[in-house]
Amino acid sequence: MELIHFTSFSGRFLGLKYRASINRRSTKVDMGNCWGSKSAELVHWTSNGDSNDVGFSSSSPSQSQFSVAASDDTCLNGEILATPNLKVYTFADLKTATRNFKSDTVLGIGGFGTVFKGWVDEKTLAPSKFGAGMIVAIKKLSHESVQGFREWQSEVNFLGRLSHPNLVKLLGYCWEDQELLLVYEFMQKGSLENHLFRRVSSSVEPLSWDLRLKIVIGAARGLSFLHTSEKQIIYRDFKASNILLDGNFNAKISDFGLAKLGPSGGNSHVTTRIMGTYGYAAPEYIATGHLYVKSDVYGFGVVLLEILTGLRALDTKRPSGQHNLVDWAKPLLSNKKKLQTIMDARMEGQYSSKAALQTAQLTLKCLEPEPRNRPSMKEVTEVLERIEAMRIKPKASK
Ligand SMILES: Nc1ncnc2c1ncn2[C@@H]1O[C@H](COP(=O)(O)OP(=O)(O)OP(=O)(O)O)[C@@H](O)[C@H]1O
Ligand SMILES: [Mg+2]
Repeated sequence: MELIHFTSFSGRFLGLKYRASINRRSTKVDMGNCWGSKSAELVHWTSNGDSNDVGFSSSSPSQSQFSVAASDDTCLNGEILATPNLKVYTFADLKTATRNFKSDTVLGIGGFGTVFKGWVDEKTLAPSKFGAGMIVAIKKLSHESVQGFREWQSEVNFLGRLSHPNLVKLLGYCWEDQELLLVYEFMQKGSLENHLFRRVSSSVEPLSWDLRLKIVIGAARGLSFLHTSEKQIIYRDFKASNILLDGNFNAKISDFGLAKLGPSGGNSHVTTRIMGTYGYAAPEYIATGHLYVKSDVYGFGVVLLEILTGLRALDTKRPSGQHNLVDWAKPLLSNKKKLQTIMDARMEGQYSSKAALQTAQLTLKCLEPEPRNRPSMKEVTEVLERIEAMRIKPKASK
């Protein structure tokens, strides 16, 4: 379980989260507490004007609508539903499902709050007694959290309507007085971050090259779906902790709290408050607040680098000069010999040097300083699939 301390930053970096090996609590600081009175009904999906968020309006038409995206857009094995199909839980329901949020049901802690393991009926999704039915993950907003209503709202609005094999499924929510909760499908293997950076003493095997490729391909497909849907969606918080893994290591992207609708009217970018996570956020976004679809591709490049090296994007415990993985490792990626010095030793012998070099070259392209020089996620996915096809075949036994 990882604790992340609150850190305040001023000016441009106000909303960026810090996520390093040292225990830190994340923050998104300029968020008002706006869920005090529950006057708005959760029924009408609208665009929040220039902010490119999607939000609730306080009007309550009988039919749910998503006013900014075309309905029933099907692409790349995914779907944008015309109406969200979410179960509404009471707080008492979720208390039952988690045995009163007992500490032994905690799956993890993030900037939003604590994630608990709970149980619901497989068919009706109604809360069931602990241990009966299907396991779900229940995220409960911490009362101290500064990521509040807005992110909860964004999660319900985006994830509630998106359906794709590489996006985690949101099953329902609870909004009661000060209590905001989200109920997700349970991802048995937890996050990529836990697997990649787990302590050496752990008895679990380190991720193999093949599994790492499978995971990044899944995540790339998820991002590609978001980017190519009729109304482009910019995810904005791509990082190892937001890639969750099911029992077969299929990757699913989670946490749509920072997601934004992409630019419209021929614009190349949207301008936003600067929110995200240090080490993963694209340089143009940190410098200007201009968010491009390709800003997500930069974050993907950082995760590719973490996959190759087994090292965190930011780690102040590393020798000085190596704290920031991109700054340190980028110059080493284009050279076969130098690349070998930074490849995760736990994967030795599992990949061909050609496959490693091609992955490193792709990483470099994703990390291009200029957004337009980065590949699209569709291109990234295709390259990764080709690399996966180069898999070393086990020698046939006599
Ligand atoms: N659907 C899920 N199934 C299983 N475990 C989950 C699920 N969602 C979250 N978790 C666990 O809870 C942990 C905390 O998740 P959470 O998304 O709240 O925070 P985070 O991603 O670590 O940080 P941040 O707040 O910066 O996004 C995850 O690392 C994961 O181990
Ligand atoms: Mg997360």
